[in-house]
Amino acid sequence: MTRPSILFVCLGNICRSPLAEAAFRRAAEDAGLDVQIDSAGTGDWHIGAPPDPRAQAEARRHGLDISFYRARQVAIEDYRRFTHIFALDENNLADLRSRAPSDASARLSLLLDLVDGMEGQAVADPYFGGDEGFAETWRDVQRAALALVRDLTSDS
Ligand code: 4NP
Repeated sequence: MTRPSILFVCLGNICRSPLAEAAFRRAAEDAGLDVQIDSAGTGDWHIGAPPDPRAQAEARRHGLDISFYRARQVAIEDYRRFTHIFALDENNLADLRSRAPSDASARLSLLLDLVDGMEGQAVADPYFGGDEGFAETWRDVQRAALALVRDLTSDS
């Protein structure tokens, strides 16, 4: 099996995809998976910024420090560099598809398609809401992280 490389993509890369990255980093480490992991945003507003303080607080509640993450925008090279690119919602997926180069090798899909019973659903954007939205984001990305580890382990 080629070494899997996973990119999580949301809009700003400061709320949802950093939490997805953190949840999957830990799940992959716990499972002893050799995998490359990153996250990015379709938008450019927050390039270079750390995760939203509410996302950092949510990660800390689960024992994870994401304060050193820095937002970046999806680059054309990502489509060739990663084996899987997971979009956090359907708008992110549509944007990713519309920008894909003709020689893209990454498989593009919706993150919650990984989770039984949540296929087709979005990880709701918590940016304009309250703290409880971040707890919901964590629940969703944690489920997806465990499902992805299970899928990658059963593939090999
Ligand atoms: P994210 O959340 O896509 O989960 O990082 C957002 C962050 C910033 C904005 C929207 C969503 N924004 O409009 O700046």
